[in-house]
Formats: sequence, C-alpha cells, structure tokens
Amino acid sequence: MNHYSWKSSYTTTALLVGSCCLLAVAAQQQQQQQQQSRSKLAGAFEFVLDFVRRKHSSHIDDDSASNKGMQVLGAGFARSGTKSTEEALKILGHKVYDTRSMLEHSEHIPRWLRAAEDYKQYHNLTELEALLKDIEAEGYTATLDFPVNLFALPLAELRPNAKVLFTVRDNEDKWFESWSDITHLMGHLICRPWKWLIGNFDFPEQLLTILEDFPRTHSQYPEHIYRPLPWFEILHHPAIVDDPGQKERWIALHQDFLKRCQQTLPPDRLLVFNVKQGWAPLLQFLGVDNDALRQQDFPNVNDRSSLQTVRWVMDVVAAGLPLWISLQTYFAYRIARCGVSMITSAAAETKKAKRA
Ligand SMILES: *[C@@H]1O[C@H](CO)[C@@H](O)[C@H](O)[C@H]1NC(C)=O
Repeated sequence: MNHYSWKSSYTTTALLVGSCCLLAVAAQQQQQQQQQSRSKLAGAFEFVLDFVRRKHSSHIDDDSASNKGMQVLGAGFARSGTKSTEEALKILGHKVYDTRSMLEHSEHIPRWLRAAEDYKQYHNLTELEALLKDIEAEGYTATLDFPVNLFALPLAELRPNAKVLFTVRDNEDKWFESWSDITHLMGHLICRPWKWLIGNFDFPEQLLTILEDFPRTHSQYPEHIYRPLPWFEILHHPAIVDDPGQKERWIALHQDFLKRCQQTLPPDRLLVFNVKQGWAPLLQFLGVDNDALRQQDFPNVNDRSSLQTVRWVMDVVAAGLPLWISLQTYFAYRIARCGVSMITSAAAETKKAKRA
C-alpha cells in the first residue's frame, strides 16, 4: 500500500466510525427536524468520505462520454457558480474534471505542476498535452473550477474546437467576498488533523504562483491558526485572503485573467457567464437546441449552507479523532477475541467428539 492509500483507508475507517455515531444522533433528532436537514447531513458525510477516499461521486456513464475529447474549458474561479455550472454540464452529458478529480487522481498533481512550469517558462505544452490525452481517455469532456481554470488558455490552444466558459458573479467585490468566506470555511484542510490525514493541500496555491506569479502566503500557528487541541486546529485567519493586499491581488488577477481570455479568444469561443442568466446563453453558446431545458431553472448547488454542514461534520470528526480511533481499535479487539474464542470452542468440540 502506498503512502496515500494507507492514509485514506485508515481515515475512511475512522470517519466511518465517527459517521455512524453522528448518524445515530442525527436519526434521533430527525423526529423533530425536517427531512431536508437530515439529507443535508447525509450529503455532508458523503462529501467528507468521498474527499478522503478521493472518489468522485459525479460520474456519468463512461461509454457515452468516451472519445469526445475536451469540449468545454472552465476559466472561472471558485465561487463563481462553478458547482451549479458543473451540474448543468452534467445534465448536458459532460464529464467534468475539477479539483476533486485532481485529488482523485493524485498522480496527476505533480504532472499539472510540471506542465505549469514548462508552459510558463518555455511555452512548452508537451506535458500538458500528454496529461490532457490521459484525462480525455477517461472520458472527461469539460474542466471547471480553480485551479484547473488557470490552464484554460493553454488548453484552448491545444484543443482549438473547445469552448471557454468564464463563470462570473455580479461583480468582483461580490466574488471575492464569497471566495474569502469559503476560504475561511474550508481553509481548515491545511490544518491538523487534515494535513496529516490527506497530505499537503497546497497545490492550488503552487499552481497560482507558477502560472500567475502570485506571491506565496503561509498561514502559521499561532498568528493565523488557533489550536484548541493538539490534534485539532482552526484556521481563523487564512493568509491567502486575509493578509494585507490580498484582496486587491485576487481582484486584479480575476480582472487580468478575464482580459487575457477576451484578448486571446475569438468571441464565439468565449462565454462570460453568470448563472443568474439561466440556461439560454449557455445552451446557445454550446450549440444545444433544447427548448424544454431552456425553460427550466438553472441548477443551484453547493450553496454555503451545505459546505457549512461539511465543515461541521469535519470539525466533529477532527476534534473526536482519538475517540474514533479508540472505538475502532476496541471493536477490532472485540472481533478478534470473538474469533479466537470461536476457534477455541470449535477445537474443544472436535476434541470432545474424538474422545467420544
Ligand atoms: C518540452 O518538455 C518535454 C518534457 O516535459 C521535453 O521532453 C521536451 O524536450 C521539451 N521540448 C522542447 C522543445 O523543449
């Protein structure tokens, strides 16, 4: 077993025990609460488990997508409606490669980093092309979200028929507010115990530095991180969004990246899209003729409250980690003892039978 799978299988088991305890509590409370909040909780568990197991739950039928190649390249940043857009693209039959797909294929991460270096330093697209071919071979037809969005232009260069979808919010201030908020909410992934359990989660920032010369920030204990328990940390001040000048830097990056896309791509290859506009512009841009869909509401997923639940679950799992591990060890011991006593009694039976 390699380093990663050892960590993930151990964590999965620990999380499963924790999840069972929590689900028991949730089931008890369900009588008073509505169905909705429970399914949100279940969804949160699924997210956490998927995340640790690095399994992407949003696969579509592999056969239907295979060999179509990359068709849609997401250039929008996280918190610009990418999750709702992902849902929409899945409805249109796409298989989407995003941050979770990068984590699922952890062997891709060093390749993305190498591809970024080669592209930035020598405009050498060899590694990116090889990686793209491997991704396409798995049936992916779209990329979305930060940090894959940073590759939108070189990927567009490699696939001249692919279209670039730049998701945006109403304005950059609003986008940054949401990005900062979600970084506060989910930034704990770089803290204990998650950094022990899932490894370093800093490749998005590394890619940002390589491709966009974005200065590296470092969230440190105790300035940015609060440590209520030796194994449990809370990131109260993520340096990447909270340090002085970071807001201006992020907004400048967003504006500059959009401008570069507009200058590089012909208008029919680029759509600047706000999910509030609904299906119509997206369907037109992708050349999909579907009147029924056009009338429907655009998907609205991954709102803040479901991530809040994910965070809550992760905090409970993290704070109680020694308890989950002890419970797991205890049950393993009970099962082993039960097995031993079964073997001993079976042996005794055999002996008795022989004597008789
Ligand atoms: C581009 O990069 C690859 C490795 O990533 C290397 O093998 C190749 O020689 C490079 N091409 C040029 C023209 O430098």
